[in-house]
Amino acid sequence: MTGSGSFAARIVRWQRSHGRNDLPWQGTRDPYRVWLSEVMLQQTQVATVREYYARFLRRYPDVSALATASEDEVFALWSGLGYYSRARNLHRCAREVVARFGGTFPGDAAALETLPGIGRSTAAAIASLCFAAREAILDGNVKRVLTRVLGFDADLAVAANERALWARAVELLPKRDLGEAMPRYTQGLMDLGATVCVPRKPACLLCPVQSMCVAQREARPEAFPVKTRKLKRTAQSLWLLHARRGDGAVWLQKRASEGVWAGLYCMPVFDDRGSLFEALGTTDVQEGPPFVHVLTHKDLHLHPVHALVRKAPGGEGAWFGAEAWPELGLPAPIRKLLLSTPLRGDA
Ligand code: ADE
Repeated sequence: MTGSGSFAARIVRWQRSHGRNDLPWQGTRDPYRVWLSEVMLQQTQVATVREYYARFLRRYPDVSALATASEDEVFALWSGLGYYSRARNLHRCAREVVARFGGTFPGDAAALETLPGIGRSTAAAIASLCFAAREAILDGNVKRVLTRVLGFDADLAVAANERALWARAVELLPKRDLGEAMPRYTQGLMDLGATVCVPRKPACLLCPVQSMCVAQREARPEAFPVKTRKLKRTAQSLWLLHARRGDGAVWLQKRASEGVWAGLYCMPVFDDRGSLFEALGTTDVQEGPPFVHVLTHKDLHLHPVHALVRKAPGGEGAWFGAEAWPELGLPAPIRKLLLSTPLRGDA
């Protein structure tokens, strides 16, 4: 693919014929729908988001419906998408849109950015896609596209360098026909990053800005972006007391609002094996095989202990039968664990 014209003109033209134009959240300028999809897409793949997006829209057709829901209900519907702080912010944001803006999303990026869970790039995406505002997005995919095209090799772990890239992103924005150009440009950058300018082995031959791309000229697209600071990963062991009654109900508690699985329902969690058995007061149990669940910054080593009990374990909580589980906000590995354990018989 060759191209002519400015960077922005090429992106816009390419988006028309080669971009994605039939995703469920396209073809609308309803900021509620665009916001919902953008928050879901922040850390989750399009294929997964499709289902959740449809489910959320069915249950909450507009921002007031979402604002009226309980946090627990929103967590339950979000269950499986991960990064639950997004669900909490989603709910808070809906309530603020109702309380502060009378149920209508504000039309400019600066106001959008004051809402929970909406950072600079998400605010710009909503403002440009819905209101054709001349605002630059800069999510992970777009950082890759721009650093390659510009040959921008300063370390993005340094805040000043990231700010410099934001400034370059603003310079590249369309200057004319913003009504049509801005939504297409924003979507085009996202599409290019997702389908052509991918992290490994990008399809440079298909790229509309190939001829102006520094990384392509130097034949080293994979050298961009430069970001030195690696996430420091940690590991944590959690002992899960899976206490079941004879009728199959399981003892679950709502977790504190900070830390791992904040605000979700879970079986009682202990830091070590000894504390779990101390709380349980019996050793007549079955220890399940431990398994690892990977979070962004942390590997969780989960050790389930299955116990058939007559009375409730101590502490907060309540019994939940299997019929209640689908409606509960449960972390994905906990839901899996509940569903993979036989309901009756020897634990
Ligand atoms: N990722 C983030 N926003 C997106 C969008 N609007 N379409 C497709 N992928 C995206």
